[in-house]
Amino acid sequence: MSAAEDEERPYEGPILYYTDQVVDHFTNPRNVGSLEPGETDGYACVGDPGCGDELKLWLSLRGGRIAKIAFKSFGCPGAIATSSMLTVLAEGKSLAEAERITDDDVVEALGGIPENKKHCSLLGVRALKAAVESCRAR
Ligand code: FES
Repeated sequence: MSAAEDEERPYEGPILYYTDQVVDHFTNPRNVGSLEPGETDGYACVGDPGCGDELKLWLSLRGGRIAKIAFKSFGCPGAIATSSMLTVLAEGKSLAEAERITDDDVVEALGGIPENKKHCSLLGVRALKAAVESCRAR
């Protein structure tokens, strides 16, 4: 097939359509970074062996609520956007309220995410639950 013929063929691969909210949280992620050991009440590091992505999450409590939350992600745009949105949803919540945040909540807050990227939000939700557990264990 010539290069000209190849250019005329319609693209047949998967189409990744990201909403404006996903693009915003990927390009301008909220709460990126880490917390100092002295202010950290909960911490978790989780990974997705299927794609190699990893997420670290720190929590700091004040008056029983999440006063500060920070994350570092080694992951795809979906993982970064969903982790960023997760931190926005979790901030100010009690531990019990934070535990009830689901991956559907995160995806809905982002206005949706491509089907083959839906698992990305699981990373953040798993990390949040593990960080809440580590708060309780202190
Ligand atoms: Fe692995 Fe997104 S592709 S978390």
